[in-house]
Amino acid sequence: RAHDAAPTRRPFSRVTPDDLSFFSHLLPGRTITDPDVLESCNVDWLKTVKGSSEVLLRPKTTEEVSQVLRNLAVSPQGGNTGLVGGSVPVFDEIILSTALMNRVLTFDSISGILTCQAGCVLESLSQYVEERDFVMPLDLGAKGSCHIGGNVSTNAGGLRLLRYGSLRGTVLGLEVVLADGRVLDCLAKLRKDNTGYDVKQLFIGSEGTLGVITGVSILCPRKPKSVNVAFLGCSSFQNLLETFQMCRGMLGEILSAFEFLDASCMSLVEKHLKLANPITESPFYIVIETAGSSAAHDEEKLHNFLDKVMASSLVVDGAVATEEAKIKALWSIRERITEALRHDGYTYKYDISLPLEKIYDLVTDMRAHLGNRAKNVVGYGHVGDGNLHLNITSPREDAALLAAIEPYVYEWTWKRQGSISAEHGLGLKKRNYIYYSKSQEAVRLMRDFKTMLDPKGILNPYKTLPDHVR
Ligand code: FAD
Ligand code: MLT
Ligand code: ZN
Repeated sequence: RAHDAAPTRRPFSRVTPDDLSFFSHLLPGRTITDPDVLESCNVDWLKTVKGSSEVLLRPKTTEEVSQVLRNLAVSPQGGNTGLVGGSVPVFDEIILSTALMNRVLTFDSISGILTCQAGCVLESLSQYVEERDFVMPLDLGAKGSCHIGGNVSTNAGGLRLLRYGSLRGTVLGLEVVLADGRVLDCLAKLRKDNTGYDVKQLFIGSEGTLGVITGVSILCPRKPKSVNVAFLGCSSFQNLLETFQMCRGMLGEILSAFEFLDASCMSLVEKHLKLANPITESPFYIVIETAGSSAAHDEEKLHNFLDKVMASSLVVDGAVATEEAKIKALWSIRERITEALRHDGYTYKYDISLPLEKIYDLVTDMRAHLGNRAKNVVGYGHVGDGNLHLNITSPREDAALLAAIEPYVYEWTWKRQGSISAEHGLGLKKRNYIYYSKSQEAVRLMRDFKTMLDPKGILNPYKTLPDHVR
């Protein structure tokens, strides 16, 4: 029962008419109790978790967020694209949305340092900085909806991590409202700052359990002058790994992404999204992106690499794009797998870090383990980061299927010293599996931080921390 996903409601105060009147004065027109609006904010993107909040608050300023936080339980929400049930209330927690906190504060066109409110949509920020000849250091399929505050709160990885590193390096500062309403101003705009502990790191990846992020300062790289995308087919995963090795050696500093999908993913995007496979059918596909400063130099390097992998039969077929529209079309095959899976049925999602050479064995073993109990078992992910997305679909939610998958998948990962959450976080769904990847001492320290920063436990309760700390 320790791993049962359904927690018990903790004795938080319920929202009273007095609370509602306070909120309505503080946030006129932005204190929402309309059940139709609340319906969509209570349900997660995967449509697998549903809360029963009766209040949605939409502050515009840090001061307003500070006024909201005192005694009532809250579920902070950005774009609600999280994949572990972390972004929606479990019971009647207030939904605290950053949707109206969407202002860019400053941009330094020499250093590339951007400061903005937490509710800026990632794609809008990308447009903003691209107009100024920079790019955001992260990119993900949910860019049209996810907020930068949500990205930081989940420490989202995405498609550019291989090149620009994790948000733990590119986020330079944060403004956070603590559980008692205090505002923590760590919104530094400096690349270097070794004045003691790096307090902001605690909030990166804390999934709304330690504070509400209201402002973000982030370092943006220069916009590359030349971008190429190659979509390649491989006949085995071993060949794919060898291609990766060769790719790193031959493309070096211009390599900006190395992603993969298997043939089952391709079938799903073809079937549900009507996307066309640009090359011959293969068991595995790779998306390689180069981003550099000289088109001639980058193309020469890419073509030398392609000649070599084709000549050695590591790659069986390929397509290359240099124009923006074609690049987008190739990327969308990889980026829209998540959407295709949702069309395929109820999706059980796993987001695993593993030593690279073992990464696809999990998919093969899971297929054998489940036999015909699942509709589809697929693998895709960020090869360059050692991050596999194993997804299993079923016509409907299926408790027996879930019991066959878990804890099998977590034990498999633990035996190989992997992580049970590479980039999506733990949220509601995975909180009780934390011990497969973290030591008891580390979890106790997490609990101690939580108690210190949020003694009443009002910030995103039932998420990230396990129900029982050992
Ligand atoms: P939400 O979903 O609203 O919230 C996520 C968590 O952060 C919740 O726990 C919430 O309480 C907390 N939170 C949100 N805002 C704040 C705040 N201001 N302060 C404190 N806590 C807050 N993830 C990856 O890592 N890599 C990917 O490549 C990737 N691709 C995706 C593609 C698709 C199509 C989808 C649907 C999701 C994808 N994700 C990916 C999942 C990823 O976690 C989210 O897309 C994104 O980072 C979450 O941002 P959001 O604004 O939607 O946050
Ligand atoms: C991805 O890499 O596509 C995202 O993390 C979303 C997912 O895992 O489906
Ligand atoms: Zn991912």
